[in-house]
Amino acid sequence: MTPDLDLPNGFVRQAGALLCERAPVAELAKQHGTPLYIYSQTAITESFQAWKAAFGSAPHLICYAVKANSNIAILKLLATLGSGFDIVSGGELERVLAAGGDASKVVFSGVGKSPAEIERALQVGIRCFNVESASELQLIEQIAAERGEIARISIRINPDVDAKTHPYISTGLKENKFGVNAERALALYQHAQSASCLEPVGVDCHIGSQLTQIEPFIESVQHLRNLVLELRDSGINIEHIDIGGGLGIRYADETIPSPSDLISAVRAELDSLGAELMIEPGRSIVGNAGALLTKVLVEKAGDTKNFAIVDAAMNDLLRPALYSAWQNIVEVSVEEGAKKSTYDIVGPVCETGDFLGKERELSVREGDLLAVMGAGAYSFSMSSNYNSRPRAAEILVDGSQHHVIRQRENLSSLWQDEQIPEALQ
Ligand code: LLP
Repeated sequence: MTPDLDLPNGFVRQAGALLCERAPVAELAKQHGTPLYIYSQTAITESFQAWKAAFGSAPHLICYAVKANSNIAILKLLATLGSGFDIVSGGELERVLAAGGDASKVVFSGVGKSPAEIERALQVGIRCFNVESASELQLIEQIAAERGEIARISIRINPDVDAKTHPYISTGLKENKFGVNAERALALYQHAQSASCLEPVGVDCHIGSQLTQIEPFIESVQHLRNLVLELRDSGINIEHIDIGGGLGIRYADETIPSPSDLISAVRAELDSLGAELMIEPGRSIVGNAGALLTKVLVEKAGDTKNFAIVDAAMNDLLRPALYSAWQNIVEVSVEEGAKKSTYDIVGPVCETGDFLGKERELSVREGDLLAVMGAGAYSFSMSSNYNSRPRAAEILVDGSQHHVIRQRENLSSLWQDEQIPEALQ
């Protein structure tokens, strides 16, 4: 069943035609082809501003999680709005720098940082490493010592809290690979305090993604609060508390707390500590600001169901295949009174798991355009070239204007880094 859902901020329907801001979506597809990612600049800006407003006068830093959507135009937009960045690789760091982001507002998360990545992060002067193990702390200390620098660090706590989200994106349980428990963290902080090349400046936590409730956040924040108090008792003065990202978005009929609901509850726990608050939102800033446009190539009646085979596939949008994620799919043009049928919307990739949506009631014919909504986060950034499919183009819409922020890949770029050994030539 396809529920009748409101379009997210940044998208409207006028006389049957879908618009992104004031740009007719069909026109964008005609000019730039499909599959095509489109993003509303206004929607991204407003989501970021909602986070900012949520903090009010509390000292804070919003570190956008680059992995959600790492296009440098989007990073630039967020940097201009004052955002910092949460990165998990050297590649993400270079993207932030290429976009003109400020290294001193970058926090570096992730369980497996390579020596080269740590060196580069020290070289450009990032704000803080979110350290996830004793070995990582040792490596950072060694590299900082070699460079004659001091590395600012937080330890990522694993609070053993159930984020009540999909198991693949739940990160705060003790069986997950992330963070360390509070007891171990204390020992690591004590070591860092005594090491001349390490400076413990914060505490950190991230329990999962697409959270729809406030309670798990608060539970983990209480662990952070207790740790900060313990650290202060032992003479380690923590300046910032990073609560991670994870606030969900409405894909279907979920009720999601607002940033201000969440931050008010967080501030009630943490304000008395007088620390700067940090947060690492990704999906909640860009998720609902984007859509993936695709064209129906083939309408196929199977024995038990109808398929609409479209020109976007699991290589363009992996979330449905990987997490059985549900994203709304709407017609780009709706004719009044048009008859709807039930379709599975599937891509051309040779896997049964290649679907964008199942059992959707739509009125489609071959050649029609569909928009997969909620495709601003973890969509292009998780795309691949599987089945030798060039990755889609990306467009940023600003009012009635739009800009190509990534060209469609051309076919020869697919094998440009490959070579045939001489012996085979
Ligand atoms: N901070 C850290 C350390 C993270 O690992 C993540 C996301 C975030 C922040 C941002 O979380 P957000 O605010 O976007 O929920 N591919 C999955 C989501 C994976 C999230 C990974 N970590 C999906 O498509 O649902």
